Amino acid sequence: MKDFFNVKEINNVADYQVLVNKEYKLPSNYVPKDLTIIDQQYSEGSQYLRNLAQINFEKMAYDASLVGLTIKAVSTYRSFEYQKNLFNKYVKEKGFNYASMCSAKAGHSEHQTGLAVDISNSNLDYDNFDKTKEFIWVKNNAHKYGFILRYPKNKTNITKYKYEPWHYRYVGELAKELYENDLTLDEKYLYFNK
Ligand code: DAL
Ligand code: ZN
Repeated sequence: MKDFFNVKEINNVADYQVLVNKEYKLPSNYVPKDLTIIDQQYSEGSQYLRNLAQINFEKMAYDASLVGLTIKAVSTYRSFEYQKNLFNKYVKEKGFNYASMCSAKAGHSEHQTGLAVDISNSNLDYDNFDKTKEFIWVKNNAHKYGFILRYPKNKTNITKYKYEPWHYRYVGELAKELYENDLTLDEKYLYFNK
């Protein structure tokens, strides 16, 4: 499959609302300066997000625990190199077309911003995450903590990625507006030329 996009390098790399997708690429040397480890209680292994995203993720996980739910950060910050290997692994296993639908090429992953978090419950079963109580709670509440479901089921033609019920993205205050208007981050930039 050819790339359809005229790829542009991102300038506002450290902006909480930065758009990273198949069209907009992060510099290969970009590493966020304020990566902070997530409390072990709410993560699988050592997981890092940018400080504000980490604080809000922990708040969300704590509030979920108050209603008897367990949510964990399973994959968070990923370096350019790590993403490169991950994408290549998918290509090897499943072919380029399939890989492109579920994994970002290096520089094109939100995970490199330190603002993306893959969430699971205690079963750590990504593929069935959307059938869990935890998913329903996160879907309905994440925006209160500044997170959005980044690759929804009904928006694959816009995001250019398969539905990912586990992938959330910290965007701060903007999350509420996107949630209430059923918009992806891509649409926000497209329609409002932000
Ligand atoms: N799975 C998402 C698209 C990523 O690789 O960043
Ligand atoms: Zn992800």
